[in-house]
Amino acid sequence: MKIFVLGGDGFCGWPVSLALSAKGHDVWIIDNLCRRRIDRELGSQSLTPIRPLDERLRVWREVSGREIGWVNFDIVRDYTALKRLLQLEKPDAIVHLAEQRSVPYSMTSIEHRRATLDGNVGGTHNILAALVETGVDAHLVHLSSIGVYGYETLGYRVPDGHVKVSIQSSQGAAEREILHPANPVSIYHLSKAMDQLVLEYYSKNEGVRISDLLQGTVWGTQTPETALDERLVNRFDYDAVYGTVLNRFILQATLGQPLTVYGSGGQTRAFIHITDTVRCIELALANAPSRGDKMVILNQVAETQRVMDLALLVGRTLGGTKINFLENPREEPESNELQVSNAGFSALGFRAKTLGEELMCETKDIVARYAFRCDKSHIFAAA
Ligand SMILES: NC(=O)c1ccc[n+]([C@@H]2O[C@H](COP(=O)([O-])OP(=O)(O)OC[C@H]3O[C@@H](n4cnc5c(N)ncnc54)[C@H](O)[C@@H]3O)[C@@H](O)[C@H]2O)c1
Repeated sequence: MKIFVLGGDGFCGWPVSLALSAKGHDVWIIDNLCRRRIDRELGSQSLTPIRPLDERLRVWREVSGREIGWVNFDIVRDYTALKRLLQLEKPDAIVHLAEQRSVPYSMTSIEHRRATLDGNVGGTHNILAALVETGVDAHLVHLSSIGVYGYETLGYRVPDGHVKVSIQSSQGAAEREILHPANPVSIYHLSKAMDQLVLEYYSKNEGVRISDLLQGTVWGTQTPETALDERLVNRFDYDAVYGTVLNRFILQATLGQPLTVYGSGGQTRAFIHITDTVRCIELALANAPSRGDKMVILNQVAETQRVMDLALLVGRTLGGTKINFLENPREEPESNELQVSNAGFSALGFRAKTLGEELMCETKDIVARYAFRCDKSHIFAAA
């Protein structure tokens, strides 16, 4: 297949691009490198020394003998470039990862709120509008977040996608199938909830073939392809704005520092390892809906864990069990239950890797190798 990977220089996009290329697909990255610019804005950097994208692509050619194309433009601001590229290349599928993905970044200021909401929803809409305008029948795989459903305890296992509801009225009960109710608690999650409505519209009314994947927090760094050469190494964010809780714990354990838990640590979140992200996207691509099918919505989640249990697990596995409790910098429930079904992906053959010792030790090894690059002042506000 010819596959466009929008956001192919990012944390998920880079390993996805390599894995698809390794499987023989004709991969094209579209990325304007804005994530690297955000690193400069924040004065932070990936713990791992990620190489410039043109060098990454050259090394991939050397190592694999395979070519990945790269086109540098902003999918939000340059609709014409997007449309022209679609017209010229007519991809079979598009993996859309080119969104601003940090919750804290989306809440930093009015400018950051506007950039996140306008950019995420605007980019998604541009792709859909360009598919309709050009008549290119590509399968669009969009990455969303399971956090669109919020962090209240729901009392049931969150199903994949659409749900059946019964609406009572004086005329009796009417049955409807609707999107699972969204309950976003950040501008980032609001943008993903709005994305989903836009996607549903284009699926229902314009016949665009769409899969929306609701992902948990991704952890880990390397995949078989990024590990082939040091110059292909994937990004590892640990800073206050883009770093995630598990990366922070693994880094702290590696540095022999106490693990910092916000609030009571009763927050339950969903997780998935980066190799499983790649696997799920491959499965979604291989199981495209047909024209006229309803939008596929799949929970891309391996497991859920309470933050406190995660800290204890990292402590047990990697050593350094001291835990410091800090005031929670985020506005979120002190504790919640979260259960998520991944029946949809399981039916497609997905067998999730959970937070086993082996994977965590592998991540620790890569963290230990580059620990000298860590700026400790960037770790501690990370939520
Ligand atoms: N990383 C996670 O834990 C996680 C969890 C759930 C969902 N997701 C979703 O997966 C997707 C990818 O996340 P990631 O962690 O790889 O993010 P990332 O920030 O590392 O990568 C995004 C890439 O898209 C590019 N990009 C952004 N806006 C662009 C634009 N307007 N035009 C062209 N290129 C643009 C960036 O330069 C970057 O290379 C996002 O939609 C994110 O919301 C990620």
